[in-house]
Amino acid sequence: MPTGEPNDLTAAAVLALEGAGGAGPVPATAWAPGRCTLVGEHVDYAGGLVLCIAVDLGIAAAVRRSRTRHHLVASGGVIVTRSAAGPVGDIGDRVLAPVIALRDRGLPVPAVEVGIAATLPPGAGLASSAALIVAVTTAILRLLGATMTARELAGAALSAERDVVGVPCGPLDQRAVIDAPAGGALLLDCRSGDHEQVPWPWVDVVLVGCDTGTQHDVGGVEYRRRRAETEMGLEALGVATCQDLRVPAIDSAALDATVERRVRHVMGESLRAAEAADALRQGDVVALGRLMSASHRSLRDLHEVSTPAIDAVVRAAQAVPGCAGARIVGAGFGGAVVALVGRAAAGACGAAMAAACDGGQTFELRPSPGLAVLAPDVVRG
Ligand code: GLA
Repeated sequence: MPTGEPNDLTAAAVLALEGAGGAGPVPATAWAPGRCTLVGEHVDYAGGLVLCIAVDLGIAAAVRRSRTRHHLVASGGVIVTRSAAGPVGDIGDRVLAPVIALRDRGLPVPAVEVGIAATLPPGAGLASSAALIVAVTTAILRLLGATMTARELAGAALSAERDVVGVPCGPLDQRAVIDAPAGGALLLDCRSGDHEQVPWPWVDVVLVGCDTGTQHDVGGVEYRRRRAETEMGLEALGVATCQDLRVPAIDSAALDATVERRVRHVMGESLRAAEAADALRQGDVVALGRLMSASHRSLRDLHEVSTPAIDAVVRAAQAVPGCAGARIVGAGFGGAVVALVGRAAAGACGAAMAAACDGGQTFELRPSPGLAVLAPDVVRG
Protein backbone atom coordinates (compact mmCIF):
# COMPACT_ATOMS: atom_id res chain seq x y z
CA MET A 1 0.00 0.00 0.00
CA PRO A 2 1.43 3.40 -0.91
CA THR A 3 1.56 6.01 1.86
CA GLY A 4 0.20 9.49 1.25
CA GLU A 5 3.61 10.73 0.10
CA PRO A 6 3.46 11.99 -3.50
CA ASN A 7 6.71 10.17 -4.36
CA ASP A 8 5.41 6.91 -2.98
CA LEU A 9 2.11 7.27 -4.78
CA THR A 10 3.90 8.11 -8.02
CA ALA A 11 5.92 4.90 -7.66
CA ALA A 12 2.62 3.03 -7.24
CA ALA A 13 1.31 4.61 -10.47
CA VAL A 14 4.46 3.44 -12.31
CA LEU A 15 3.94 -0.06 -10.92
CA ALA A 16 0.30 -0.06 -12.07
CA LEU A 17 1.43 0.96 -15.55
CA GLU A 18 4.21 -1.64 -15.75
CA GLY A 19 1.90 -4.32 -14.34
CA ALA A 20 -0.58 -3.70 -17.15
CA GLY A 21 1.69 -2.71 -20.04
CA GLY A 22 4.98 -4.42 -19.25
CA ALA A 23 8.26 -3.15 -17.81
CA GLY A 24 10.12 -0.35 -19.51
CA PRO A 25 11.08 3.28 -18.99
CA VAL A 26 8.26 5.55 -17.77
CA PRO A 27 9.40 9.02 -18.75
CA ALA A 28 6.61 11.13 -17.28
CA THR A 29 4.81 11.19 -13.92
CA ALA A 30 2.78 13.77 -11.99
CA TRP A 31 0.93 14.04 -8.68
CA ALA A 32 -2.07 16.33 -8.11
CA PRO A 33 -3.82 17.14 -4.81
CA GLY A 34 -7.55 17.09 -4.13
CA ARG A 35 -9.55 20.12 -2.96
CA CYS A 36 -11.48 20.87 0.23
CA THR A 37 -13.81 23.86 0.20
CA LEU A 38 -13.88 25.82 3.46
CA VAL A 39 -16.79 28.09 2.50
CA GLY A 40 -18.25 28.81 -0.97
CA GLU A 41 -19.92 25.67 -2.24
CA HIS A 42 -22.12 25.63 -5.35
CA VAL A 43 -21.19 29.22 -6.22
CA ASP A 44 -18.38 28.73 -8.75
CA TYR A 45 -20.80 28.25 -11.65
CA ALA A 46 -22.58 31.43 -10.52
CA GLY A 47 -19.44 33.59 -10.53
CA GLY A 48 -19.11 33.62 -6.73
CA LEU A 49 -16.26 33.66 -4.22
CA VAL A 50 -14.83 30.41 -2.85
CA LEU A 51 -12.38 29.86 0.01
CA CYS A 52 -10.70 26.46 -0.30
CA ILE A 53 -7.49 24.53 0.17
CA ALA A 54 -5.79 21.85 -1.89
CA VAL A 55 -5.26 18.78 0.32
CA ASP A 56 -2.44 16.33 0.90
CA LEU A 57 -4.48 13.41 -0.42
CA GLY A 58 -4.11 13.14 -4.17
CA ILE A 59 -3.78 11.19 -7.39
CA ALA A 60 -0.60 10.18 -9.23
CA ALA A 61 -0.31 9.43 -12.95
CA ALA A 62 2.50 7.69 -14.84
CA VAL A 63 2.48 8.11 -18.62
CA ARG A 64 4.48 6.77 -21.55
CA ARG A 65 4.03 6.55 -25.29
CA SER A 66 2.12 3.47 -26.35
CA ARG A 67 4.18 0.93 -28.26
CA THR A 68 1.05 0.13 -30.26
CA ARG A 69 -1.59 2.47 -31.69
CA HIS A 70 -3.82 1.72 -28.69
CA HIS A 71 -4.31 3.67 -25.45
CA LEU A 72 -3.99 1.67 -22.24
CA VAL A 73 -5.25 2.69 -18.77
CA ALA A 74 -4.50 0.85 -15.52
CA SER A 75 -6.33 2.15 -12.45
CA GLY A 76 -7.52 0.46 -9.25
CA GLY A 77 -6.82 -3.03 -10.61
CA VAL A 78 -8.87 -2.37 -13.78
CA ILE A 79 -7.20 -2.29 -17.20
CA VAL A 80 -8.80 -0.88 -20.33
CA THR A 81 -7.40 -0.60 -23.85
CA ARG A 82 -8.84 1.68 -26.49
CA SER A 83 -8.20 2.50 -30.10
CA ALA A 84 -9.56 6.04 -29.49
CA ALA A 85 -9.52 8.38 -26.48
CA GLY A 86 -13.18 9.50 -26.65
CA PRO A 87 -15.51 8.59 -23.76
CA VAL A 88 -17.26 5.21 -23.89
CA GLY A 89 -18.50 4.94 -20.30
CA ASP A 90 -15.62 3.18 -18.52
CA ILE A 91 -12.81 4.21 -16.15
CA GLY A 92 -10.72 5.28 -19.14
CA ASP A 93 -13.04 8.23 -19.89
CA ARG A 94 -11.60 10.75 -17.43
CA VAL A 95 -8.03 9.39 -17.73
CA LEU A 96 -7.96 9.79 -21.52
CA ALA A 97 -10.02 13.03 -21.73
CA PRO A 98 -6.79 15.14 -21.48
CA VAL A 99 -5.53 13.47 -24.68
CA ILE A 100 -8.43 15.03 -26.57
CA ALA A 101 -8.34 18.39 -24.72
CA LEU A 102 -4.60 18.76 -25.44
CA ARG A 103 -4.95 17.70 -29.09
CA ASP A 104 -7.73 20.33 -29.41
CA ARG A 105 -5.12 22.84 -28.23
CA GLY A 106 -2.76 21.82 -31.01
CA LEU A 107 -0.44 19.50 -29.09
CA PRO A 108 0.71 16.31 -30.87
CA VAL A 109 -0.37 13.83 -28.19
CA PRO A 110 0.37 10.23 -29.26
CA ALA A 111 -1.45 7.10 -28.08
CA VAL A 112 -0.48 6.72 -24.41
CA GLU A 113 -0.27 4.14 -21.65
CA VAL A 114 -1.32 5.51 -18.24
CA GLY A 115 -1.03 4.08 -14.71
CA ILE A 116 -3.02 5.68 -11.87
CA ALA A 117 -2.69 5.46 -8.08
CA ALA A 118 -4.75 7.41 -5.55
CA THR A 119 -5.02 8.27 -1.88
CA LEU A 120 -7.95 10.60 -2.52
CA PRO A 121 -11.29 8.84 -2.05
CA PRO A 122 -13.34 8.90 -5.29
CA GLY A 123 -16.70 10.66 -5.38
CA ALA A 124 -16.29 12.07 -1.87
CA GLY A 125 -16.57 15.76 -2.81
CA LEU A 126 -12.80 16.29 -2.65
CA ALA A 127 -12.32 16.90 -6.40
CA SER A 128 -10.97 13.48 -7.32
CA SER A 129 -11.95 14.01 -10.98
CA ALA A 130 -10.05 17.28 -11.24
CA ALA A 131 -7.02 15.81 -9.46
CA LEU A 132 -7.02 12.84 -11.85
CA ILE A 133 -7.39 14.97 -14.97
CA VAL A 134 -4.81 17.57 -13.86
CA ALA A 135 -2.30 14.82 -12.93
CA VAL A 136 -2.71 13.10 -16.33
CA THR A 137 -2.61 16.42 -18.23
CA THR A 138 0.59 17.46 -16.42
CA ALA A 139 2.23 14.08 -17.02
CA ILE A 140 1.37 14.24 -20.74
CA LEU A 141 2.81 17.77 -20.97
CA ARG A 142 6.00 16.43 -19.32
CA LEU A 143 6.08 13.59 -21.83
CA LEU A 144 5.94 16.13 -24.66
CA GLY A 145 8.33 18.58 -22.99
CA ALA A 146 5.55 21.18 -23.29
CA THR A 147 4.60 23.98 -20.85
CA MET A 148 1.45 25.97 -20.11
CA THR A 149 0.50 28.88 -17.87
CA ALA A 150 -1.59 28.01 -14.80
CA ARG A 151 -4.67 29.48 -16.53
CA GLU A 152 -4.06 27.44 -19.70
CA LEU A 153 -3.63 24.24 -17.67
CA ALA A 154 -6.84 24.95 -15.72
CA GLY A 155 -8.63 25.67 -19.00
CA ALA A 156 -7.43 22.43 -20.60
CA ALA A 157 -8.37 20.37 -17.51
CA LEU A 158 -11.81 22.01 -17.26
CA SER A 159 -12.45 21.40 -20.93
CA ALA A 160 -11.38 17.74 -20.57
CA GLU A 161 -13.94 17.23 -17.80
CA ARG A 162 -16.75 19.46 -19.08
CA ASP A 163 -16.50 19.27 -22.87
CA VAL A 164 -14.99 15.79 -23.34
CA VAL A 165 -16.50 13.81 -20.44
CA GLY A 166 -19.64 15.99 -20.31
CA VAL A 167 -19.73 16.89 -16.59
CA PRO A 168 -21.33 20.35 -16.14
CA CYS A 169 -18.85 21.46 -13.45
CA GLY A 170 -17.68 25.00 -12.71
CA PRO A 171 -14.03 26.16 -12.58
CA LEU A 172 -13.42 25.65 -8.83
CA ASP A 173 -11.77 22.25 -8.63
CA GLN A 174 -9.22 22.72 -11.40
CA ARG A 175 -8.23 26.17 -10.11
CA ALA A 176 -7.83 24.86 -6.53
CA VAL A 177 -5.72 21.90 -7.65
CA ILE A 178 -3.44 24.20 -9.69
CA ASP A 179 -3.35 27.57 -7.86
CA ALA A 180 -3.45 26.61 -4.16
CA PRO A 181 -0.46 27.95 -2.24
CA ALA A 182 1.85 25.97 0.06
CA GLY A 183 0.57 26.16 3.65
CA GLY A 184 -2.53 28.18 2.95
CA ALA A 185 -5.94 28.67 1.40
CA LEU A 186 -7.04 30.10 -1.91
CA LEU A 187 -9.73 32.77 -2.19
CA LEU A 188 -10.99 32.34 -5.72
CA ASP A 189 -13.15 34.96 -7.42
CA CYS A 190 -15.10 33.08 -10.08
CA ARG A 191 -16.45 36.38 -11.50
CA SER A 192 -13.07 37.90 -12.38
CA GLY A 193 -10.98 34.72 -12.37
CA ASP A 194 -8.56 36.37 -9.90
CA HIS A 195 -7.29 34.62 -6.82
CA GLU A 196 -5.64 35.53 -3.55
CA GLN A 197 -3.64 33.35 -1.19
CA VAL A 198 -4.43 33.35 2.53
CA PRO A 199 -1.92 31.61 4.87
CA TRP A 200 -3.23 28.97 7.30
CA PRO A 201 -2.64 30.76 10.62
CA TRP A 202 -2.77 27.91 13.11
CA VAL A 203 -0.64 24.93 14.15
CA ASP A 204 -3.16 23.71 16.71
CA VAL A 205 -6.32 23.87 14.57
CA VAL A 206 -6.88 21.18 11.94
CA LEU A 207 -9.42 20.02 9.38
CA VAL A 208 -10.78 16.53 9.94
CA GLY A 209 -12.59 14.87 7.03
CA CYS A 210 -14.97 11.94 7.11
CA ASP A 211 -15.83 10.11 3.89
CA THR A 212 -19.28 8.72 4.55
CA GLY A 213 -18.86 6.25 1.69
CA THR A 214 -22.03 7.48 -0.03
CA GLN A 215 -20.61 8.57 -3.37
CA HIS A 216 -21.94 11.59 -5.16
CA ASP A 217 -22.01 12.24 -8.89
CA VAL A 218 -21.28 15.70 -10.32
CA GLY A 219 -22.40 14.37 -13.70
CA GLY A 220 -25.74 13.37 -12.18
CA VAL A 221 -29.13 14.93 -12.69
CA GLU A 222 -29.32 16.79 -9.35
CA TYR A 223 -26.10 18.80 -9.83
CA ARG A 224 -27.26 19.78 -13.33
CA ARG A 225 -30.62 20.82 -11.93
CA ARG A 226 -29.10 23.01 -9.16
CA ARG A 227 -26.93 24.71 -11.74
CA ALA A 228 -29.84 25.26 -14.16
CA GLU A 229 -32.13 26.60 -11.38
CA THR A 230 -29.42 28.98 -10.20
CA GLU A 231 -28.76 30.26 -13.72
CA MET A 232 -32.51 30.69 -14.25
CA GLY A 233 -32.66 32.87 -11.12
CA LEU A 234 -29.70 35.03 -12.12
CA GLU A 235 -31.23 35.57 -15.53
CA ALA A 236 -34.66 36.43 -14.11
CA LEU A 237 -33.02 39.01 -11.84
CA GLY A 238 -30.98 40.43 -14.71
CA VAL A 239 -27.53 39.84 -13.16
CA ALA A 240 -24.52 37.97 -14.49
CA THR A 241 -23.21 36.55 -11.21
CA CYS A 242 -24.27 35.88 -7.63
CA GLN A 243 -21.97 38.68 -6.47
CA ASP A 244 -24.34 41.11 -8.21
CA LEU A 245 -27.44 39.87 -6.33
CA ARG A 246 -29.12 42.08 -3.70
CA VAL A 247 -31.74 41.08 -1.10
CA PRO A 248 -34.36 43.75 -1.99
CA ALA A 249 -34.30 42.67 -5.64
CA ILE A 250 -34.85 39.03 -4.64
CA ASP A 251 -37.58 40.04 -2.15
CA SER A 252 -39.53 41.98 -4.74
CA ALA A 253 -39.16 39.56 -7.67
CA ALA A 254 -41.90 36.99 -8.05
CA LEU A 255 -39.51 34.07 -8.44
CA ASP A 256 -40.48 30.44 -8.41
CA ALA A 257 -39.97 29.30 -4.78
CA THR A 258 -37.27 26.76 -5.64
CA VAL A 259 -35.36 29.20 -7.82
CA GLU A 260 -35.63 31.80 -5.02
CA ARG A 261 -34.01 29.39 -2.53
CA ARG A 262 -31.16 28.73 -4.98
CA VAL A 263 -30.38 32.41 -5.53
CA ARG A 264 -30.55 33.10 -1.79
CA HIS A 265 -28.02 30.32 -1.26
CA VAL A 266 -25.51 31.51 -3.89
CA MET A 267 -25.77 35.14 -2.74
CA GLY A 268 -25.28 34.30 0.95
CA GLU A 269 -22.63 31.65 0.36
CA SER A 270 -20.41 33.94 -1.72
CA LEU A 271 -20.65 36.68 0.96
CA ARG A 272 -19.79 34.07 3.61
CA ALA A 273 -16.69 33.03 1.65
CA ALA A 274 -15.42 36.63 1.82
CA GLU A 275 -16.11 36.69 5.58
CA ALA A 276 -14.40 33.32 5.98
CA ALA A 277 -11.27 34.68 4.27
CA ASP A 278 -11.31 37.57 6.78
CA ALA A 279 -11.66 35.10 9.65
CA LEU A 280 -8.66 33.16 8.36
CA ARG A 281 -6.60 36.35 7.96
CA GLN A 282 -7.44 37.32 11.55
CA GLY A 283 -6.87 33.82 12.92
CA ASP A 284 -10.45 33.82 14.26
CA VAL A 285 -11.23 30.12 14.52
CA VAL A 286 -14.63 30.67 16.14
CA ALA A 287 -15.76 32.89 13.26
CA LEU A 288 -14.49 30.51 10.57
CA GLY A 289 -16.18 27.55 12.27
CA ARG A 290 -19.47 29.48 12.57
CA LEU A 291 -19.32 30.35 8.86
CA MET A 292 -18.64 26.72 7.92
CA SER A 293 -21.68 25.58 9.90
CA ALA A 294 -23.78 28.37 8.36
CA SER A 295 -22.61 27.18 4.93
CA HIS A 296 -23.86 23.70 5.76
CA ARG A 297 -27.28 25.01 6.83
CA SER A 298 -27.64 26.94 3.58
CA LEU A 299 -26.58 23.94 1.48
CA ARG A 300 -29.05 21.79 3.42
CA ASP A 301 -32.06 24.13 3.52
CA LEU A 302 -31.72 26.43 0.49
CA HIS A 303 -29.66 24.57 -2.11
CA GLU A 304 -30.92 21.19 -0.85
CA VAL A 305 -27.79 19.20 -1.62
CA SER A 306 -27.32 17.45 1.73
CA THR A 307 -28.77 14.13 2.88
CA PRO A 308 -30.08 12.99 6.30
CA ALA A 309 -27.00 10.76 6.68
CA ILE A 310 -24.62 13.66 5.99
CA ASP A 311 -26.60 15.94 8.36
CA ALA A 312 -26.17 13.34 11.12
CA VAL A 313 -22.38 13.32 10.62
CA VAL A 314 -22.27 17.15 10.65
CA ARG A 315 -24.29 17.23 13.91
CA ALA A 316 -22.04 14.60 15.49
CA ALA A 317 -18.94 16.69 14.68
CA GLN A 318 -20.50 19.93 15.90
CA ALA A 319 -21.39 18.30 19.24
CA VAL A 320 -17.74 17.49 20.05
CA PRO A 321 -16.18 20.08 22.42
CA GLY A 322 -13.34 21.75 20.53
CA CYS A 323 -15.09 21.55 17.14
CA ALA A 324 -15.59 25.09 15.78
CA GLY A 325 -17.84 24.09 12.87
CA ALA A 326 -18.58 21.43 10.28
CA ARG A 327 -20.12 21.12 6.85
CA ILE A 328 -20.71 18.94 3.84
CA VAL A 329 -17.94 19.34 1.25
CA GLY A 330 -18.13 19.32 -2.55
CA ALA A 331 -21.16 18.90 -4.77
CA GLY A 332 -23.22 17.04 -2.15
CA PHE A 333 -25.87 14.33 -2.39
CA GLY A 334 -23.45 12.19 -0.32
CA GLY A 335 -19.68 12.35 -0.01
CA ALA A 336 -17.61 13.76 2.83
CA VAL A 337 -17.97 16.08 5.82
CA VAL A 338 -15.19 18.39 7.00
CA ALA A 339 -14.85 19.74 10.54
CA LEU A 340 -12.65 22.57 11.86
CA VAL A 341 -11.34 21.40 15.20
CA GLY A 342 -8.65 22.04 17.81
CA ARG A 343 -5.85 19.48 17.43
CA ALA A 344 -6.47 18.06 20.89
CA ALA A 345 -10.06 17.19 19.95
CA ALA A 346 -9.30 15.93 16.41
CA GLY A 347 -9.34 12.24 17.38
CA ALA A 348 -12.63 12.53 19.27
CA CYS A 349 -14.19 14.49 16.41
CA GLY A 350 -13.10 11.90 13.81
CA ALA A 351 -14.42 9.07 15.99
CA ALA A 352 -17.77 10.84 16.49
CA MET A 353 -18.16 11.39 12.75
CA ALA A 354 -17.21 7.79 11.90
CA ALA A 355 -19.67 6.46 14.49
CA ALA A 356 -22.47 8.64 13.08
CA CYS A 357 -22.12 7.06 9.64
CA ASP A 358 -21.42 3.50 10.62
CA GLY A 359 -17.66 3.54 10.19
CA GLY A 360 -16.83 6.15 7.57
CA GLN A 361 -13.17 6.71 6.76
CA THR A 362 -11.66 9.71 8.59
CA PHE A 363 -8.48 11.66 7.81
CA GLU A 364 -6.78 14.93 8.60
CA LEU A 365 -6.75 17.28 5.62
CA ARG A 366 -3.61 19.44 5.48
CA PRO A 367 -3.10 22.30 3.02
CA SER A 368 -1.02 21.19 0.04
CA PRO A 369 0.41 23.35 -2.72
CA GLY A 370 -1.10 23.04 -6.18
CA LEU A 371 0.59 22.26 -9.50
CA ALA A 372 1.77 25.84 -10.07
CA VAL A 373 4.10 25.23 -7.10
CA LEU A 374 4.66 21.49 -7.56
CA ALA A 375 5.37 21.43 -11.31
CA PRO A 376 7.33 24.59 -12.26
CA ASP A 377 8.86 22.69 -15.21
CA VAL A 378 5.36 22.42 -16.76
CA VAL A 379 3.42 25.37 -15.31
CA ARG A 380 4.96 28.66 -16.51
CA GLY A 381 4.81 31.54 -14.03
C1 GLA B 1 -18.12 19.99 -7.85
C2 GLA B 1 -17.88 20.77 -9.14
C3 GLA B 1 -17.38 22.18 -8.83
C4 GLA B 1 -18.28 22.89 -7.81
C5 GLA B 1 -18.52 22.00 -6.59
C6 GLA B 1 -19.51 22.60 -5.63
O1 GLA B 1 -16.91 19.73 -7.20
O2 GLA B 1 -16.94 20.11 -9.94
O3 GLA B 1 -17.29 22.93 -10.02
O4 GLA B 1 -19.48 23.31 -8.39
O5 GLA B 1 -18.99 20.71 -6.98
O6 GLA B 1 -18.99 23.74 -5.02
